[in-house]
Amino acid sequence: MRYQPVIVLLVAVLAMLASSAVSATKGTACYVGTWANYRDGNGKFNTSEHLNIDICDHIIYTFVGIRGDTGEVISLDDWLDYGTGSGGTGLRGFLNFTDLKKKNPNLRTSLAIGGWRQCSLNYSIVSNDPVKRRKFIDTAVGFLKEYNFDGFDLDWEYPSQRDGNPVDLENFNTLIREFREEFDKHGYYLSAAVGASNQAADLSYHVPSLSKYLDRIFVMAYDLHGSWDGITGIHAPLYRTSAYDNTNNETLASLYVDNCIRGWLNRGADPEKIGLGMPTYGKSFKLADSSNHNLAAPALPGNGGSAGPYTKESGTLGYNEYCEYKQTTGWTEVWDGEQIGIYAYTTTDWVGLDNQKSLCIKTKYAKDLKLGTTMIWAAETDDFRGVCGTAHPLLSAIKDGLSSNPTLC
Ligand SMILES: *[C@@H]1O[C@H](CO)[C@@H](O)[C@H](O)[C@H]1NC(C)=O
Ligand SMILES: *[C@@H]1O[C@H](CO)[C@@H](O)[C@H](O)[C@H]1NC(C)=O
Ligand SMILES: *[C@@H]1O[C@H](CO)[C@@H](O)[C@H](O)[C@H]1NC(C)=O
Repeated sequence: MRYQPVIVLLVAVLAMLASSAVSATKGTACYVGTWANYRDGNGKFNTSEHLNIDICDHIIYTFVGIRGDTGEVISLDDWLDYGTGSGGTGLRGFLNFTDLKKKNPNLRTSLAIGGWRQCSLNYSIVSNDPVKRRKFIDTAVGFLKEYNFDGFDLDWEYPSQRDGNPVDLENFNTLIREFREEFDKHGYYLSAAVGASNQAADLSYHVPSLSKYLDRIFVMAYDLHGSWDGITGIHAPLYRTSAYDNTNNETLASLYVDNCIRGWLNRGADPEKIGLGMPTYGKSFKLADSSNHNLAAPALPGNGGSAGPYTKESGTLGYNEYCEYKQTTGWTEVWDGEQIGIYAYTTTDWVGLDNQKSLCIKTKYAKDLKLGTTMIWAAETDDFRGVCGTAHPLLSAIKDGLSSNPTLC
């Protein structure tokens, strides 16, 4: 009897230790769009020089591709990836990337396959065929071995969507189970980037299986709004905005980060497996009426706001491009404390994006929900050169948010 209080205390202390061991949100996974090596001027991103491996503890090289006819993993840019190819020695991208571990031994390096541009078809074909799945897994392992990566990241966008097939959802489970079995033999790390919304989760994934087989689920909680909406909106807002209230469009109104993350948790994802994806870029619009530049203002149909000088894609603006614009041209910036994010406009263009404060708040949110880690898409659109101030402002804001005493939010 007299030992009971001691035992109770001991149990309480052990429980506290156990819960604190699993509860801390740690680090930031950084995707790198390696083609940014070809960008002009201040937009040129050299992984060896510009990737911040003090803040990024997991770096992910994008992208390799896949052959639908065989299931083989292939390089999409021999010159950049290997350092071979016609006419010279090339850039040795894979090995330079994994060589960064020499500077930071705790760094995890992954190779990613897929991405938006590759669509879904080849992944759908390969995952539906046991022989091709085997080839997929074996050739992936071959790449990791040869170039010293620690893991593989599946960015199939998305099972059962775009040019995919309804059987993809089940086949994706089989694929990741087989990847898991093989990776356990080698100690490789398996992750996937997933569509964030509740609708995407239902169409593409059996969430408990992902939570079981993957080491990390990177929830791409961005691109939730864009020029396709026909009205302006911040693309990765943490919370719901009342600006959509009188649009009578519940689909638009329900697309916000907190709703996505809770959707994944409600469907059975272990919070510790989740990496909260955050953008270092904005989605832009062309205003239909220059005098209406609020949230949910009418926007012109088409591809969105004018392309930036580095990313050169209408509808998207890197934070680095935006911060340079803001210094020179007439952008007006507005903080939205309801959704958590900023928007900015000129007489013709409108962009919604994250800044230091919103990323700090989102990181605190990840900590509150005990998510495993944070993630950014992508390293090459932060102000990585420090053109507008101190270098890596957005990554630094996430680091600040992860600290016990954030100063930015
Ligand atoms: C990247 O930076 C490294 C280190 O400064 C340099 O050796 C290399 O040539 C650069 N690569 C490119 C493609 O500019
Ligand atoms: C799909 O695979 C085929 C080979 O079967 C290849 O020619 C094609 O480029 C691949 N498509 C994509 C988008 O990667
Ligand atoms: C990789 O490193 C080599 C040697 O420093 C350099 O010449 C090459 O430009 C680098 N590749 C990239 C993509 O930066």
